[in-house]
Amino acid sequence: MNAGRFPEGFFWGTAAAAHQVEGGNHANDWWAWEQIPGHIKNGDRSDPACDHYERFAGDFDLLRSLHQNAHRLSLEWSRIEPAPGQFSKTAIQHYADVLQALRDRGMEPMVTLHHFTNPSWIADAGGWETPDTALRFANYAERVTNELGQLARYWVTVNEPTVIAYQGYVRGEWPPGKRDLGAAARTLVTLLRGHWLAYERIKMRQPELQLGLAHHVRVFDPARFFAPQDRIVAAAFNRVFNNTLLQSLRRGRLAFPLTRAGHAGGPAPSQDFFGLNYYTRELVKFNRHYGAELFGERVLPVGAPRSDLNWELYPEGFYRVLRSLQREGLPIFVTENGIADAADVRRPDFLLTHIGAMLRAIHAGVPVRGYFHWTCFDNFEWAEGYSAKFGLIACDPVTQERRLRPSARLYAEICRNNELPVSVELPPAPLGRVEPAGPAELR
Ligand code: FCB
Repeated sequence: MNAGRFPEGFFWGTAAAAHQVEGGNHANDWWAWEQIPGHIKNGDRSDPACDHYERFAGDFDLLRSLHQNAHRLSLEWSRIEPAPGQFSKTAIQHYADVLQALRDRGMEPMVTLHHFTNPSWIADAGGWETPDTALRFANYAERVTNELGQLARYWVTVNEPTVIAYQGYVRGEWPPGKRDLGAAARTLVTLLRGHWLAYERIKMRQPELQLGLAHHVRVFDPARFFAPQDRIVAAAFNRVFNNTLLQSLRRGRLAFPLTRAGHAGGPAPSQDFFGLNYYTRELVKFNRHYGAELFGERVLPVGAPRSDLNWELYPEGFYRVLRSLQREGLPIFVTENGIADAADVRRPDFLLTHIGAMLRAIHAGVPVRGYFHWTCFDNFEWAEGYSAKFGLIACDPVTQERRLRPSARLYAEICRNNELPVSVELPPAPLGRVEPAGPAELR
């Protein structure tokens, strides 16, 4: 076998989220948040985004022409259940059409049930801080999979629970804009319970569906390798941000430090595959002034390559994370991996080195089954608005013109051949001198 080749049947696609691309989502907490000056860069709003709600068929034609054989998308809960217990036939039919459109093009859908946005009525009832939200989410998840389960085999319950808790309840930069560690822990617990309940309910009726969760896993390394205080703080970050959730899912009960927030448990296993979102690593340096952030100041290696958002580009971390996930014993889908790079100067290398790192992991025995690049079209990048350009394809929210970046063609070549075009050497990890991470771009 050619060393650059991927296993037969590998899924190649892109990932997107309803609120970031659809336009017209006015009944959720994000839309309300966007109306308040200062919340979103340049005062941007998520309508019209890519107008994908109307243009999905043409968009899928384009992705198929780029040889993608799979696509990850999310459903907008507020469209499907605009009021408690009231399900919209029109919205469900719309998503049935969307999934059918993918199938017609030979693209395997992977469907996310919750990608950051909550219906306004959920937010008004206290969002994920309220334990009842887990049950309401499970009701929605059950209804949707009953209606659409025939059209998609792969389902992601929740996208990035820890990011939701961190951004919304620790940093306060996303709705509901709180800075309250207790609320963050309660939120994470309810998200986990929502996943557990949804898993049980869906599997009971449709055991053939493959369910997972999309985890944002980040590498945390000590800024000064030999400084014990940096090592302790980096380990604490790793524990809280990565491992608490993984361990809770592995065992079917809440792991430290969530144990105090409640005693709920769930089934184990509750994932048929592991969904990995990998973007970057952070170096962590002990700083006694950073009490609210576990005494960790996040820094960047001097001279490290970065994205437009100042995230370190660190393909070796992708390899390390994939290797560390081997112990989960689950097939893995890379549900997101990408770079903000408006000029498309770093993305080609990003693609080659990250996909190369993934291939190395596969050769080392990690069961990776597919890769969804984040993302197809430039879209509404949450608090960054339209300023962060993650698309393989540029999309102008005013004219709605789609324009391929060179990377789109490079990725198409990889998808078509199921193979890397060149052998890729991974650069050595730059460790040593560090500098402050800069404004609040890291998340
Ligand atoms: C991930 C989110 C996704 C997008 C990318 C850049 O954390 O899941 O919606 O914002 O980051």
